Amino acid sequence: MSQSPKVPFAESLENSIDASVVRRLPDIGRLVSLPQTTFTLLSLLMDEKTVPRDLERVLAQDPALAAKVISLSNSAFYALESPVSTLDRAISVIGFKELEFMAMGLGLSETFDLSQVPRGFDGEALWLHSLAVSWIARELAVLTKAAVPSEAMITGLLHELGIIILVSKFPQQFQQLLELVDAGMSFSEAEGALGLKHNVIGYLLARNWNLPEVFQEGILYHHKPELCPKNKKAAAIICLADNLAHKAGYSVSIEVFDLDLPFILSLVDLKVDALQSFVKELMVTMPQVQPLWLQMMKTGGKKDAGGKNRFASLMPPRELNTSPKS
Ligand SMILES: [Fe+2]
Ligand SMILES: [Fe+2]
Repeated sequence: MSQSPKVPFAESLENSIDASVVRRLPDIGRLVSLPQTTFTLLSLLMDEKTVPRDLERVLAQDPALAAKVISLSNSAFYALESPVSTLDRAISVIGFKELEFMAMGLGLSETFDLSQVPRGFDGEALWLHSLAVSWIARELAVLTKAAVPSEAMITGLLHELGIIILVSKFPQQFQQLLELVDAGMSFSEAEGALGLKHNVIGYLLARNWNLPEVFQEGILYHHKPELCPKNKKAAAIICLADNLAHKAGYSVSIEVFDLDLPFILSLVDLKVDALQSFVKELMVTMPQVQPLWLQMMKTGGKKDAGGKNRFASLMPPRELNTSPKS
């Protein structure tokens, strides 16, 4: 068969890797949708021209979400002198970009409930991992300029979308994966055996939701950025952030890394000593942010989740965002 270089990327991808996943989860595009509010918030986050009034307008249509965002703004982490009770004040003291991200994280955690997970899997750790990768990816993007920081942050948050979906919407299939892992397979072997590759599932959803290509590719290639056709550097940032999150203890036990670090560093043009300084700084900043993330786990979630330990996400405060490292 001829190897036509003219086959569009998406089409060649469909032909080569989607088949097994589509066979296994034929309705995934129809079954899993993103609520309109979350989708709108995501669009706002991606749009440089978004202004605070846009966020206020969206949250005005979802008072329950707005109330949660305000509640999170009062986290001890922000050390506000007086409590915040309105959205416009939360925006003025914390920053609307941070609140946008917080709202989106809350929306995601409401959509994908990880409180009921198959035995042997830690749903909270998965959210924590996603947040950590989001945080690290944005900082790496600022440091290296290899990706747009807000895009790196969102891709980091969504990079394990496939696992999040499997756990929350297809628990039986996920259980089968865990059983194969228990029987001695690596997670990636089990995914291949069952036609449930998490990167492909996440990609299919991101594509179905019409997310920008940089997110689609970042999700699909977060373990193999070298194969990424168009957004290689952005995918490499996610891959590196993923790896650093694992090393920092924010890991998902099933994810195993086989990373060619020198190659990844060359992709994003980062020297080893600069990486070492970056990691040193992470070891200081991440423990500062972690209590806030843990508080999110108690605050976020569905109205009927009761006292369950659920998790939402947000962006760290401005004072910790400064571009470090030289
Ligand atoms: Fe992954
Ligand atoms: Fe990951």
